[in-house]
Amino acid sequence: MDTGQGISMTPRIQFRGSPYDTMDTDRHCGTKTCQPPCPSNIISSAVEKWTRKMSLPLACQLCCRRLSQQARNARKRAMLDRMIRVDHAGEFGADRIYAGQIAVLGNTPVGPIIKEMQNQEKQHLEEFEKMLPEYRARPTVLLPIWNVAGFVLGAGSALLGKEGAMACTVAVETVIEDHYNSQIRELMEDDTEEHRPLIQKIKQFRDEEKDHLDTGLLHDAEKAPFYTGLTEVIKVGCRTAIWLSERI
Ligand SMILES: [Fe+2]
Ligand SMILES: [Fe+2]
Repeated sequence: MDTGQGISMTPRIQFRGSPYDTMDTDRHCGTKTCQPPCPSNIISSAVEKWTRKMSLPLACQLCCRRLSQQARNARKRAMLDRMIRVDHAGEFGADRIYAGQIAVLGNTPVGPIIKEMQNQEKQHLEEFEKMLPEYRARPTVLLPIWNVAGFVLGAGSALLGKEGAMACTVAVETVIEDHYNSQIRELMEDDTEEHRPLIQKIKQFRDEEKDHLDTGLLHDAEKAPFYTGLTEVIKVGCRTAIWLSERI
């Protein structure tokens, strides 16, 4: 990768004087805090290369390979656990936001439009509820907080009028679209073929969230009072909720 300043930021690492030369460190171990070069990946690649180079007995090589494979599987499990947990939390929160908006604007002309978006969020939520046991992922312990916070955000924005509710939708869906895009990239970097069903599902949800964003813009989101400030504050809140739900 070229940084544009003539500095090459290659994800491959040179280990001078070591029994192994270069190793693939551009893959991510699944923890958000880890940035390439990934220490976990360095270790598993190093073990494999070292055993090959040293011509260790076959039994040792097989044992090391198995340990390395176990490390990779653990990394993958951690990545999927984190993804399913945060997506489940996000869809749960989105459902609660629309519930809050419907409580205020349900009997107005935009009521059916908001209801339609909420129905899609409920479908997304159902899908992730099925995926939790399938991927052996744990839901976030913060669900009771998102339950209340989502409803309050939805109702509070709707009290500013339909423009306020739509501005809230635009802010939330902008963050969610970015979030899903980054997950799609991460899954494709890991193994496109293995994660194909999950990638397709997330792509479908990402497109539907984009439709919600467009609906918000179409219904005068930008005419909401303090539109820029309001949407920026909501975006920061959503990103914080994502960060927390990935971890606890
Ligand atoms: Fe959704
Ligand atoms: Fe949505």
